[in-house]
Amino acid sequence: MPVIAVIGAQWGDEGKGKVVDLLAQKANMIVRFSGGDNAGHTVVNPHGEFKLHLIPSGIFYPHTICIIGNGVVINPAVLIDEIDQLNQCGVDTTRLFISDRANLIMPYHVLLDGLEEDLRAGKALGTTRKGVGPAFTDKAARLGIRTGDLLDKEALLERLRFVLDYKNIILTKIFGVSPLSPDEIYSQYYQYGKRLAPYIRETTIMVEEALNREEVVLLEGAQGALLDPDFGTYPYTTSSSPLAGGGCLGAGLGPTRISRILGVFKAYCTRVGAGPMPTELKDETGDLIREQAHEYGATTGRPRRCGWFDAIAARFSTRINGFTGAAITRLDILDSFAHLKICVGYKLDGKMIDYFPANVVTLEKCQPIYEELPGWQATTTHIREYEQLPPQARQYVTRLEELISCPVNLICVGPEREQAILKMPII
Ligand code: GDP
Ligand code: IMO
Ligand code: MG
Repeated sequence: MPVIAVIGAQWGDEGKGKVVDLLAQKANMIVRFSGGDNAGHTVVNPHGEFKLHLIPSGIFYPHTICIIGNGVVINPAVLIDEIDQLNQCGVDTTRLFISDRANLIMPYHVLLDGLEEDLRAGKALGTTRKGVGPAFTDKAARLGIRTGDLLDKEALLERLRFVLDYKNIILTKIFGVSPLSPDEIYSQYYQYGKRLAPYIRETTIMVEEALNREEVVLLEGAQGALLDPDFGTYPYTTSSSPLAGGGCLGAGLGPTRISRILGVFKAYCTRVGAGPMPTELKDETGDLIREQAHEYGATTGRPRRCGWFDAIAARFSTRINGFTGAAITRLDILDSFAHLKICVGYKLDGKMIDYFPANVVTLEKCQPIYEELPGWQATTTHIREYEQLPPQARQYVTRLEELISCPVNLICVGPEREQAILKMPII
């Protein structure tokens, strides 16, 4: 049975939470593999509406095992809060497990995320200020503290003192703020450790056992391909890889295990935070999409920048992820438009290009070249069969399919679990 990676194909917020909640009906295990609580995955199902930052979106079924993989950085306070909120809504979290190799977000990471952003001033990245970037920096610098470290009282204190000596130099000498107290952080994190101990495991064994039982495993991506530190709009990116390849590293399985890769695309584009976005609409059409679709960040509440579907960026995303299929979400948001545009090329210095440039200065100069398609001007939110979609909507989907170079499996026409059209089976 397959491992299916569910990957954000644009700049995040494509609807991965909704798609995972839907697919988890037929899955046995769901593993979050990257990012941290910079992610906000909205799930609307019979339990209510949830914005999950760390816990996999498949937690709502009694048959699923959910894992926060080694590739995720965990703020324990956020995780405990999320567990409590789910429990209060009657959602069982006893099948949740956390990799003992996952790095922790510490108070100095959150502090440094804000201080570094303030220092960048006009060149701020627009991070979520959740400490995710500084935590991944420390992981690479070998200064991280991991969930497994919470389980050993003495070792935790020793590690914390060592790391904090270093961090306090940066806080006091570079940023001129007060040092943090190791004892305070220790007592706080020791308590978190006691609370999270039942969830902390060697999770690669669990994943392997699920695969040996031929179960369906979903890898839940966070962020989106265009925020990848290598392939995204660097430096306006996140700090861990949201790509399908990142799924292997962040969940602890080999590349040969992944059999399907589902790219989740919004039917148009959004981006939150700074950095180039060639199809951004800074006019009333962009405002209309934002207001109709309520495009405000699930984590920070910031307004999302909105624009037409960018097929150049989308095809790039397919290339670097190897999508075997696509999910198109929020098709219903386009219901009222008389005409729709798709970006099929960029104009750069008077010439047309058909690739996504690596350099942000170049990308900023790219002007979108649009193809116009007729809108359908009809409600699609109640439709569950592909053939029932208005012909113009099917024409739009078919054109996206051609341009992004992979078949469309799933179309979403509303935030609720059942507001979906399965065009081709996924599991
Ligand atoms: P994620 O980070 O990729 O999980 O996406 P977010 O949850 O940040 O943002 C996606 C938003 O779109 C959420 O508010 C979802 O409830 C909503 N959503 C997902 N699919 C659809 C859809 O097909 N139609 C509409 N109208 N909303 C959708
Ligand atoms: P989900 O999983 C959208 C963006 C931030 C900022 C950049 C760097 O919900 O799709 P970071 O805090 O990661 O250092 O910020 O990345 N960003 C996201 N944008 N959706 C997300 O996650 C994001 N996670 C990070 O807005 O531009
Ligand atoms: Mg989101």
